[in-house]
Formats: sequence, C-alpha cells, structure tokens
Amino acid sequence: MSPEKGQGKEAAEKEERRFVWNLRPRTLNEYIGQGRMVENLGIAVSAARERGEPLDHILFHGPPGLGKTTLAHILASEMGTRITHTSGPALEKPVDMVGILSNLDFGEVFFIDEVHRLPHAVEEYLYSAMEDFQVDFVYGKGAYAKTLPYQLKPFTLIGATTRAGLLSAPLRDRFGMVYYLDYYSLEELTQVVQRSASLLGVTVPEEGAAEIARRSRGTPRIANRLLRRVRDYAQVKEGGVITLDIAREALTREGVDGAGLDRLDRLYLNVVVERYGGGPVGIEALAATLNEEVDTLADVVEPFLLKMGYIVRTPGGRRIGEVALRHLGLRPDEAGQGRLM
Ligand code: ADE
Repeated sequence: MSPEKGQGKEAAEKEERRFVWNLRPRTLNEYIGQGRMVENLGIAVSAARERGEPLDHILFHGPPGLGKTTLAHILASEMGTRITHTSGPALEKPVDMVGILSNLDFGEVFFIDEVHRLPHAVEEYLYSAMEDFQVDFVYGKGAYAKTLPYQLKPFTLIGATTRAGLLSAPLRDRFGMVYYLDYYSLEELTQVVQRSASLLGVTVPEEGAAEIARRSRGTPRIANRLLRRVRDYAQVKEGGVITLDIAREALTREGVDGAGLDRLDRLYLNVVVERYGGGPVGIEALAATLNEEVDTLADVVEPFLLKMGYIVRTPGGRRIGEVALRHLGLRPDEAGQGRLM
C-alpha cells in the first residue's frame, strides 16, 4: 500500500471512530441495554453522591464495542467530576502512573483501558494507591534506597478489559464492583440504531433498524458504524430512507452477511474447515494462516463466534460448530473436503 493510501485509510478510520463516539449516550438514562448493571451503577452513583464520597473502583470486562469506555465517561459525568483517560500499554514506567495519580483531585475518575496490558512494575503501584490512596516514592538505589509514602486524594479507578482472565488476582481483588458486559439483544440494538438515526436526522422504519441490528454482532459500536454505511447508501438510492431492502443491499455490499458475519469471520471459519479439517486447531496456527494478530482473533473475532456456537473451544483448540457448517452450507461429513476454497 502506498503511504498516501495508508494515511487515507487511517484518516477515514479516525473519522469513523469520531462519528461513532459522538453518538454515545451521555447519561445512564440514555443508556440502552445492560439493564441490571446500569441500575446498580445508578444506585452506586446516588449513594456516593449523597455521602459526598468517590465511587468505588469499578472493573468492566467483556468484548470490544459494548460500552465499557462510554460507561466510564458517563460515570464521571454523573458524579460531576473529571476523567483522566489512558490505557495499560501507554503507562510504560511507574513514573507515568505516579504522575497521573498524584495529579488526581478528590473524587476524580482515572480510567485505564486495556488494564490487562499494564506492565507489572507499573501495576504494582496501583495496589496501595487503590487500597489506601497512597504510593511509595523510591529515592536512591540499592542499599541506600529510601521509600517515602505519598498520600493521594481519594479517587475512582475504572478499569476496562476484554480479557479479565489475564488480570492478576491482586489487581482484580481491589475492584469493589466488577461487571461483565454481554452482547446486546436484537431489541436493544434496534433501539440503539433508532436512537442514533434520530440524532442524525435519518428516517429509519423499524424493519430497517432491525436489519442493521441483526447484522451487528450484538455490538452497538458495529451497529452505529453500519448505520453510517447504510445512511450513505440510502441517501444515494432511496432519498435517504433506510428501508429493509436498502439495509439488506447496503450491508451485503459491505461484506456483512445476514448473520452479521464479516469477511474476516467467514475467512476464519473457512480456514478451520478447509485447512484444518474442522479442527481442533490452535489459535497461533489460525493467526499465522490468516496473517492476523493472535490478539485480534482472541479479542475481536472469536468471542462472537463462540457465543453463537460457530466455533467450540476444546482442550485441543478450536473446532467448527454445527451452526457454522449450516451457515456455510456444509454437512458435518463435508468439513475438510475442499469445497469452500
Ligand atoms: N450508542 C452506543 N451504545 C449505546 C447504548 N448502550 N445506548 C444508547 N446509545 C448507544
């Protein structure tokens, strides 16, 4: 790819992220889905505000695009406080962490995305910071090293991760509230599409919204991204109205099929069937064959395929599920017979 083309793609992706970010809900009241969790968060906010205390530390985990970052911003806003937003890999050295912690005011929210990717030496500073609002500065080296405790103002740490299993026990145990965000139901996602369409001033009858929702892998971020694509298509084809047919045509053109699987999902399934006889196959082998990062497969591609039964996890690796064979139009005995590529 030429550098200009690469930059163009990057700029387009940045613009798309901004588009989706602007559609996010700003309050718990506006938030659709994750009912019980949102209710509990509302209670925690009211109680903390009444007592004049910061919110307890919160961990959000679950697949990407379901609203973990959005919730962190909503909670800061509901608490009437500032949020400092960073990510695990961005905090390279203890000094990066201590610098942020010592600048937090009373009750402020410190949000760490991808908190499972904090370097260990940095993570260790969080333990006493979360528990006692204190960090130990270390002066000097070796036998002459001295530690000086430094008192922080009480704050709220909000961590987000797609891989709670990779968090160390000492870190996980210091979160007072731990919430798993699950995929959204078709009804909830349809409401998300309708809300976004209304913010954008786009007309979308229920069937059109439901079709976008059906193809969005239970994920609001994808729903809003697809809404944008369909809006453009509708504008050119149908005077801007997102009918069922327009939604279908536009999404099929985008490579998103009737079940919401995209090109990479289908390629993944085809590789399991064709190259590995339906499995079991390890994730490293799949990543190498697909020329993708292991993390992309583990965080982005597989969770939905597992949830819907397209693949099954076994001790020997991933195996193709019956749902996938039906979707690909294969009988179980045909897996690995070279029909798909
Ligand atoms: N936009 C993206 N996610 C949303 C949600 N959970 N509720 C309302 N609008 C959204």
